[in-house]
Amino acid sequence: MSERELADKYEKIVDLAKRRGFFWSSYEIYGGVAGLYDLGPLGALLKANIVNLWREYFVLRHQDLVVEIETPIITPEIVLKASGHLDHFTDPITECVKCGRKYRADHLIEEFAKIKVEGLSIKELNNIIKEKGLRCPVCNGELSDVREFNLLFKTTIGPYSSDVGYLRPEAAQGIFVAFKRVLVAVRERFPIGIAQAGKVGRNEISPRQGMVRLREFTIMEVEFFHDPEGEEPPWERFSGKLRLLTAEQRKKGEDKPIEIDVIEAIKEGIIKNKWLGYWMCVARDFVKEIGIDYNEMFFEEKLPHERAHYSAQTFDQLVRVSRWGWIEVSGHAYRTDYDLRKHMEFSGQDMTVFKSFKEPKLVEVEKIVIDKALLGKILGSAMTSFQEAINRLDITEVKKILANPGNIINIAGYEIPREAIKIVKETQKVTGTRMIPHVAEPSFGAERLVLVALDKAYSEEDGRVVLRFPRKIAPIKVAVFPLLEKDELVEVARKIYTELMMAGFTVLYDESGSIGRRYARADEIGVPLAVTVDFQTLADGTVTIRDRDTKQQIRVHTRELKNMLREALGII
Ligand code: GLY
Repeated sequence: MSERELADKYEKIVDLAKRRGFFWSSYEIYGGVAGLYDLGPLGALLKANIVNLWREYFVLRHQDLVVEIETPIITPEIVLKASGHLDHFTDPITECVKCGRKYRADHLIEEFAKIKVEGLSIKELNNIIKEKGLRCPVCNGELSDVREFNLLFKTTIGPYSSDVGYLRPEAAQGIFVAFKRVLVAVRERFPIGIAQAGKVGRNEISPRQGMVRLREFTIMEVEFFHDPEGEEPPWERFSGKLRLLTAEQRKKGEDKPIEIDVIEAIKEGIIKNKWLGYWMCVARDFVKEIGIDYNEMFFEEKLPHERAHYSAQTFDQLVRVSRWGWIEVSGHAYRTDYDLRKHMEFSGQDMTVFKSFKEPKLVEVEKIVIDKALLGKILGSAMTSFQEAINRLDITEVKKILANPGNIINIAGYEIPREAIKIVKETQKVTGTRMIPHVAEPSFGAERLVLVALDKAYSEEDGRVVLRFPRKIAPIKVAVFPLLEKDELVEVARKIYTELMMAGFTVLYDESGSIGRRYARADEIGVPLAVTVDFQTLADGTVTIRDRDTKQQIRVHTRELKNMLREALGII
């Protein structure tokens, strides 16, 4: 398709989305707010199906490895200070000194100076604006110096302005801070993935890509806590080839992804963490079920300056959509032990797990030994508190004190003879050590997948729209029609409609207009199966089931209808 046709297709999708109730701009009657979208009745169902499909892939198919939790959206400041979001979750901003409009500086330069600026510093962006003489695109006013703008939505918790809180920018932080609690709840099962799907807020400077860039959206994340030298992922569940555009390739200016088996990519160090590679395979198959062909997606490795502050390696999963081209639907970050380490530091809480060695190891350890008989005589009743004080000291501190000259040393506030305290070496059998778990994170945006699913499903047939949603995510699964608006047919059709609703199907009932128009209306919102009640139904209890894609019809007895529909829809 040409650029023009792709843009037209997108406009048609947006129009359909509004008209049939998938999504529209929020607060429309007051002019709307960029980056905020409502999901209509069909959009909400579609999103719920996508979230459930994510749950099926990332949680249910990994119940032995992953649990799901829910944590608050409102986050106290200390959490995001510890995570680094307060300092690093920023975009560059510039302001028109005449009209006051604010712009994302990097986007403005890319659009008006046609220069790629990803990764450039604030100073470099400033220089480009000056050198190229860029001005306000609306009023031609002068632009201010570029500065960092923090994307966190700020609020207060309760009535005290000093109790600052923020809307979470990712579900991950709620997971990190709850890590130890979850570990206890799962009886120390490790490795352990903790999943969460929920709303997040990002105060984007000037979002202009419709549903692609939202200020509030549903994130679906798994933080997979593991030992990078520990057990292998369950490759028998998900493995195989991935299409990758590596950082090395990108540095050379290449843009054609390589295709490589995930295990080989890990062995060759192209993917730096095996669980990162594993979850990328799960992501590949999950996105495929939403309707994206394997060849229409690839994983792009981010360059060091493009990565979030917590990540040692990131791959974005890109899919191609009309109008916007390649867009990111998920990010796969190897967060190492960064987040837990930070939260340990800021909270003072232990976030480590015990890692058993394959074989116990004999290790030489240094121990503080005190001459109890001698000290007992000198310290008398203060002996117990002296022992407690010395137990609290680190061995390196004791060594430093012993390095001081003189026969009397001052240790933990007690004056004692030097010979009363010694450091001795001893061989001990050690069965394991404590470690801070590493984290591999697959993270998806649900609303973006709603748009992608619509884009992929959209087709036109003889001038009519047919949404070819994969059956699993179709918002409405079954349509029920009486062939004609005759009482006897309407009565049976309504009975079937109620029975299907009661059995848990999402069902559309439509009795107005010709049967052809009703099929067309159902196709336009992607209903995969349509049940029609006709005069033969009254005679022998059979109805027709029509398939949206093949247009084939079969006759089944109403007795068999629910089972037949479940089978055709792939519902167990
Ligand atoms: N947790 C991934 C992200 O914030 O994008």
